Amino acid sequence: MSDTPVVDEDLVALLRADLTAARFTVHGVADRLGPVASAALHREQPLPALLATERSGTRDTSDTSDTSDTADTAADDACGVLIRLFTLGRPVPASALASALPTLGVEGAVALGLVRVGGGRAGVAAGRSTPPEREVAATCDLRPYGDDAHDWWVASDLSELVVGGPLRRDHVLGIGGASTTLASWTVRRPVERALDLGTGCGVQALHLTGHARAIVATDISERALAYAAFNVALAASEHSGAVPPFELLAGDLLDPVAGQRFSLVVSNPPFVITPRDEALPLYEYRDGGRAGDALVRSLVRQVGTVLEPGGIAQFLGNWEVPAGRTWRDVWGDWLEEQARDGIALDAWVVQRESQDPAEYAELWARDGGALPGSEAHSQMYAAWLRDFASRDVERVGFGVVTLQRPATDRPTWRSLDEAHGPVSAPMGPAIDAGLRARTWLAEHSDDDVLDVAWSCAPDVTEERHGRPGAEDPSVILVRQGGGLGRVVRAGTLLAAYLGVADGELTARAALDAIAEVLALEPEQVRAETLPQLRDLVADGLLV
Ligand SMILES: C[S@@+](CC[C@H](N)C(=O)[O-])C[C@H]1O[C@@H](n2cnc3c(N)ncnc32)[C@H](O)[C@@H]1O
Repeated sequence: MSDTPVVDEDLVALLRADLTAARFTVHGVADRLGPVASAALHREQPLPALLATERSGTRDTSDTSDTSDTADTAADDACGVLIRLFTLGRPVPASALASALPTLGVEGAVALGLVRVGGGRAGVAAGRSTPPEREVAATCDLRPYGDDAHDWWVASDLSELVVGGPLRRDHVLGIGGASTTLASWTVRRPVERALDLGTGCGVQALHLTGHARAIVATDISERALAYAAFNVALAASEHSGAVPPFELLAGDLLDPVAGQRFSLVVSNPPFVITPRDEALPLYEYRDGGRAGDALVRSLVRQVGTVLEPGGIAQFLGNWEVPAGRTWRDVWGDWLEEQARDGIALDAWVVQRESQDPAEYAELWARDGGALPGSEAHSQMYAAWLRDFASRDVERVGFGVVTLQRPATDRPTWRSLDEAHGPVSAPMGPAIDAGLRARTWLAEHSDDDVLDVAWSCAPDVTEERHGRPGAEDPSVILVRQGGGLGRVVRAGTLLAAYLGVADGELTARAALDAIAEVLALEPEQVRAETLPQLRDLVADGLLV
């Protein structure tokens, strides 16, 4: 493909060595830019970073005593040159790039499809005019990315800011908020085979290299697959050691992997609800070519067919909530449909956000690059509102979905939770613990729950609120520091139990003792407290 990076293993290894030596890594870039410009760049405001790298690799035309050439400046500030070229999309002199990538060289970068060489501007140095120097422009965005254990780089299409015009339909997106949300929520158990559906630039696949023995990544876009191949090759080149076997397949949703089985499926699918309207630009990265929320719904219905027993699927999604229904009703229908059509799955859906149609339209019209107030923006906005009205949609939910195929023929469980506030980062360990706890609860009776000596998790605190001067609190809140950050209002019985839940006494013994102190029937105390215990165990407040 002529407009995507090329995998040439020898050149890719040189690129990696040069990027590492230049400290063009997550930490290196943060150090080079400083906190203000780094934070602005995260908000997609490039100006402070442009100013901070203004002199990187450029000739100083004012200081006539400086006879050093461009290459020396660039060698001293290779990271600045690479930020300016690949992240900010500004041309740099060819000599500056040659110094910043000393083993790959400009020719190597051209051969990899990362840059093109164009004309240049004449300069002035030491009081004399200098001939025009060739300039190099990036043909893709390339930036460092990583987790605790890895330095990676991710190439993707140049952003709208750099292109200065509308994006192409098959634009390959870089790492965005949705990518990092899914990466954070993914359960990172060691697994045999993992699937990244709709891999785009391959960011989820990069994360999977840390805990899957084999990875399949799919996309409907050939350009996305080319980028993913390049990014995984860059991760695999000699300095980081081998990555697991990695296969790229083209096709729609699960079609390319029909008949295969995975222990983990992750997907940040093109879930954006987009009107089927000629006037609207369609982008492959966010629109899967279906009306309404049909793409996410069909993923829910079909994903069980590729999960092995005990396997997990995690993806992001939007769902429409029509008038007179709740988001839980909608999910109830989807899960019933799923169980009817295939193997019934456990389901844990966490709704993180809910917007009305206008809020949703504003968000996505802005993402298309149209300025609020412009004719194009008004057209898009109206198209979204008409589309939602045609299905009587009142709200649009967004959240993270975790589905699990039971390993045995036990009944499935279902948790439909809302968490709009901050959650643990990463969230994967809490999801992992929550899956295990919910599965344990599904496999054990109330008597089994009572026979465990639970303890309050270390991140749980209690808040007592009361009228000034009152002896007893009128409200007791139990707050989880990590996980979903749950806050539970505790009545007298639950507060008393949590006060003694230190892992020594079984829940049965503790509740019986509380019943005796309060002169209540033990059966009544157990019956009242058990649903709350199950709830707190499921979310990790009791462990
Ligand atoms: C939002 S991007 C996600 C990219 C990347 N996985 C991430 O987490 O940032 C969605 C990806 O799904 C791909 N896609 C769109 N429609 C698809 C379909 N029907 N089947 C498979 N992939 C599709 C797009 O090309 C795009 O690369």
